[in-house]
Amino acid sequence: MSSLKLAFIGGGTMAEALIKGLTTKNVYLPDEILVSDPLSARREFLTAEYGVAATAGNKECLAAETILLAVKPAQLHDVLEEVGGRWPPDSLGISIVAGARLGSFRRHFPAGEPPLVRTMPNTCCTIGWGITAVACNDKADDGHRARAHRIFESVGDVVDLPENYFDAVTGLSGSGPAYVTLIIESLIDAGVQQGLPRRVAKDLVCQTVAGAALLVKQSGKHPAELKDQVVTPAGTTAAGLQVLEEAAVRATFCLAVKAATVRSRELGQEVAPR
Ligand SMILES: NC(=O)c1ccc[n+]([C@@H]2O[C@H](COP(=O)([O-])OP(=O)(O)OC[C@H]3O[C@@H](n4cnc5c(N)ncnc54)[C@H](OP(=O)(O)O)[C@@H]3O)[C@@H](O)[C@H]2O)c1
Repeated sequence: MSSLKLAFIGGGTMAEALIKGLTTKNVYLPDEILVSDPLSARREFLTAEYGVAATAGNKECLAAETILLAVKPAQLHDVLEEVGGRWPPDSLGISIVAGARLGSFRRHFPAGEPPLVRTMPNTCCTIGWGITAVACNDKADDGHRARAHRIFESVGDVVDLPENYFDAVTGLSGSGPAYVTLIIESLIDAGVQQGLPRRVAKDLVCQTVAGAALLVKQSGKHPAELKDQVVTPAGTTAAGLQVLEEAAVRATFCLAVKAATVRSRELGQEVAPR
């Protein structure tokens, strides 16, 4: 192995998405990456598929310049108890663990808190279309932030945000793919109810949702302006939109994002150190 640049503690879905993005885009070479995971079948798969080294020992990850914590929230405490005491003070720690606040890591590093970056990616990272929010502790400098950006830009867009926005980010873009797939499923069923074959309805809906998102992003126009452009007086779209407004779809989305944000705040208390 050449010098170890990046180690993942936890080799699950998100770690794999990042390994794929990073090696495909040559941000890191496969032999600069180490993954730690308890399951031997998982380690063998990651090595065979991406050429990265894999280990069952989390402490081996501490030899890397950057150590990325990619375990589930319930596993974080035990992992930090295991590695925190030996963490090299200059090694950058990046967490993707939902709800884990930067302040909650502090007590796990008796030799002093290292530079840390908290992130909130979403599941679209698995196809390179994710969005990741990034917040740093006061030990992290511009170079550490830039390193985190390079890592997450391999799987989508990156936005710097103060940490106090992270519960709202979790409720919006973290949970967002589930909201949008619910909309897609509903529209496909609606098309089928109107007589379209399911496969055709699926193609029509997916391309319409993806196209509408790109239209908003690329045109720079307000979504309401783009909507108004396709609403002919007394026309078909006006009839459809009236039903959605009467069903309070807009207000319902606000309530959904609020509920997810509140839940993220509650879960953050549970991930806090015991
Ligand atoms: N998936 C998403 O869309 C998404 C979005 C934003 C944030 N996140 C965050 O990303 C983190 C990882 O999510 P994920 O979906 O990748 O989960 P995952 O697929 O369950 O990956 C976690 C991996 O860590 C392994 N693991 C368990 N205990 C460990 C230990 N003590 N040391 C080392 N590895 C251990 C697990 O192995 P076993 O399966 O054998 O237990 C599993 O392979 C979570 O904290 C989640 O909140 C995920």
